[in-house]
Amino acid sequence: MTMDNLKTPKIALGTWAWGDSGETGDGYFGSLLTRAGLEEIADKAHAAGFTMWDTAVVYGMGRSETVLGEVLKRYARSDYQLSTKFTPQAAGTGENPVADMLEQSLARLDTDYIDLYWIHNPADVMRWTPHLIPLLKSGKVKHVGVSNHNLGEIERADQILGEAGFRVEAVQNHYSLLYRSSEDAGILNYCRNQGIPFFAYMVLEQGALSGRYSPENPLPEGTNRAQVYNGMLPQLKALTDKLASIGQKQNAAAPDVATAWAIAKGTTPIIGVTRPGYVDGLVRATSLVLSSDDIAALEALAESANVNTRGWWEKEMQV
Ligand SMILES: NC(=O)c1ccc[n+]([C@@H]2O[C@H](COP(=O)([O-])OP(=O)(O)OC[C@H]3O[C@@H](n4cnc5c(N)ncnc54)[C@H](OP(=O)(O)O)[C@@H]3O)[C@@H](O)[C@H]2O)c1
Repeated sequence: MTMDNLKTPKIALGTWAWGDSGETGDGYFGSLLTRAGLEEIADKAHAAGFTMWDTAVVYGMGRSETVLGEVLKRYARSDYQLSTKFTPQAAGTGENPVADMLEQSLARLDTDYIDLYWIHNPADVMRWTPHLIPLLKSGKVKHVGVSNHNLGEIERADQILGEAGFRVEAVQNHYSLLYRSSEDAGILNYCRNQGIPFFAYMVLEQGALSGRYSPENPLPEGTNRAQVYNGMLPQLKALTDKLASIGQKQNAAAPDVATAWAIAKGTTPIIGVTRPGYVDGLVRATSLVLSSDDIAALEALAESANVNTRGWWEKEMQV
């Protein structure tokens, strides 16, 4: 069986916060998103050549997928790529929970195939990985990847897929200046050596590294991200100031530099886009040049911020 290689974009677009849109959002981000605003984001992104959209069933429990599907209706299906996930914790009790969850995603996204389908976390690698094989064979899923898996779990998933002539084609983990567990555990190196694209999520730490938020102007009260990050904001100031000053020299802003750092480390950042103007930042991030001194200074400040931003759903990546 032959496989087309997965085409990896420079930056992918994240839509977890889109689960907050409308009246039934889950309030995780506290983003006030309107349908017209999301359409404007999509138009700007597509005009700039960013066309891979990452979502998951559990972002707003279907809300993100539904809204994304509605917004993308304005383009030909071949003009964008969809990335969504099977979340083991949300599996149904039928005979084929992965196929069932995929069918629900296809319906919400109003499509008949997913470009890149992920196992969201390594709840049970031996149990869930084999379920991807018939989906690949049917063509409903073009490429597969694993998310939140440690090195041993990635290798195990790759072996299971390999026995059927497929492979792990992408890895998606939390990776930012503040959270480099995948790098420390050798996953970045492994991916580079195997030619597997590494998709970095939460590169901006849900806005805490954007420079927009400070102790005087914290993340929206009452949201999950406020609970996680607001207490850290004083420790992040030196780092976000440095991101801004490096950016200034190239007419760019702090989040653009944080994104460019992730690109310089060989990853494909998935950036959560909640405002049309943020797309301009993605364009700037792809042309920013960071010197090795810039990178070293940012990493040193990140280290001395001394914060742990591991998500509640994540495990340390050390094998
Ligand atoms: N596989 C997994 O387990 C997993 C887990 C987490 C995330 N993800 C994926 O990765 C994506 C990215 O993560 P994320 O959305 O949680 O967080 P993120 O990308 O670190 O941060 C997104 C937030 O940063 C702010 N932002 C983005 N661009 C900006 C800019 N140019 N200037 C200023 N602020 C900017 C926005 O906050 P405001 O709206 O407040 O301005 C936005 O909501 C998700 O959307 C999802 O697709 C996957």
